[in-house]
Amino acid sequence: MTVESAELIDRAIKILDNNFQDGGFTIPSKGLYPFQWKWDSGFIALGFAHYNMDKAKKEIRTLLNAQWGNGFIPHIVFHNDSDTYFPGPDFHQSHLHPLASKEYRSTGMTQPPVFGFILEQLLRIAEDKDDILQFIGNQIDKIYKNHEYFYTNRDLNGDGLAYIYHNWESGTDNSPLWDDIWQTMNPPEYTFERRDTTHVDASQRPSNREYDHYLHIIEIAKTYNYEDARIAEHSPFLVLDPLFNAMLIKSNESLINLYTLLGKGQKEIDQLKKWQALSIEGLNTKLYNEELGAYVHYDLRNDRQLPYVCSSSFAPLFSMAPSKIIAKRLVETMMEKFGGEDRYLCASFDPTHERFNPKKYWRGPVWINMNWIIYQGLKKQGFDELAARIKSDSLALIERNGFFEYFDARKENPDGDMSGYGGNNFSWSAALLIDFLKQND
Ligand code: DGY
Repeated sequence: MTVESAELIDRAIKILDNNFQDGGFTIPSKGLYPFQWKWDSGFIALGFAHYNMDKAKKEIRTLLNAQWGNGFIPHIVFHNDSDTYFPGPDFHQSHLHPLASKEYRSTGMTQPPVFGFILEQLLRIAEDKDDILQFIGNQIDKIYKNHEYFYTNRDLNGDGLAYIYHNWESGTDNSPLWDDIWQTMNPPEYTFERRDTTHVDASQRPSNREYDHYLHIIEIAKTYNYEDARIAEHSPFLVLDPLFNAMLIKSNESLINLYTLLGKGQKEIDQLKKWQALSIEGLNTKLYNEELGAYVHYDLRNDRQLPYVCSSSFAPLFSMAPSKIIAKRLVETMMEKFGGEDRYLCASFDPTHERFNPKKYWRGPVWINMNWIIYQGLKKQGFDELAARIKSDSLALIERNGFFEYFDARKENPDGDMSGYGGNNFSWSAALLIDFLKQND
């Protein structure tokens, strides 16, 4: 390892340790995100695993402690009070759902199901394999129950695809994709006090009108006490997301591997295999767009594909879903639209599209967690050279700008040198940098 890499890892460790809280969880970024976020926790655990496995385990345990009686895992767990974030626990009111955790306040929405594959990654990283297998053995049924929740409550048409009912469930919070859904809605103009724009320049965050839509969907879900069947009937936002479902498929794959290694859970393995076959078929029929050469989103409420290419379009590479032909086509699409030499890979939205914005949250910038997912996918499918480029682009962005939340994809930024946006000292950027640098390839 070079001196520069060792120095970057030291900085990353400091960030993670500073963001780790007494309650045994890690905030994504001070001020901007002062609670525990679901998929952030998964990626954060990977960083800890390289230098403090106890913290990695704690991160996962703390999140799973807030799991609901029906297997649901919320997207934010409000362990503590904070006046630096809106909307907080009083707005979300998770207690409305009869099976919500009685002990922890949370949101009533979820985020991509990453924990199956996160457990398998911990096994890759751990030096003490027996110890980590014991930990995995204690947690795996909770993740299985979470998958069971998705297949039982979120698979409307029985095609193995779980819907999301809010843009925040996608993880790609204000992607230009959602503009098409906003055009079908006309929410009231709510009165509320944004907190995010006190931490980050407003030009890098969603607009107030976008927040009206976000809040309105939550209000509707609250009217129905967060009951899935009623949300499915009434939410104006009901979408099949290729990233979300690719994470589910990848995590199914990992759960099957882990149960097999642990020598238990034959019933669960059989069930997971059935779900898996259905989901792969569903992903490749409903969410693949031949013309675009990419996986796309499907708007269930209005029965149409949303024909846009974004970084989520490439996430299925990380799972066993794409055929060799589709994998090759995805890479061609990525190179054609996102891969110019004047850009870092991989922008979060199609840079050739008029809705692309290089600075605004999920409307264009590069995210390190998406790069990590795509990197793993490219390696899995045998595109080692392109995987190496994604890795070196990710490292270069952090090295040049710092540990930001998201980054400008343009190598020449016309507005000056600063190409790191959103929250600074951002936990998953730190955690995944450690994992990138410690992987020997
Ligand atoms: C936010 O507040 O923007 C969060 O990312 C929602 O999860």
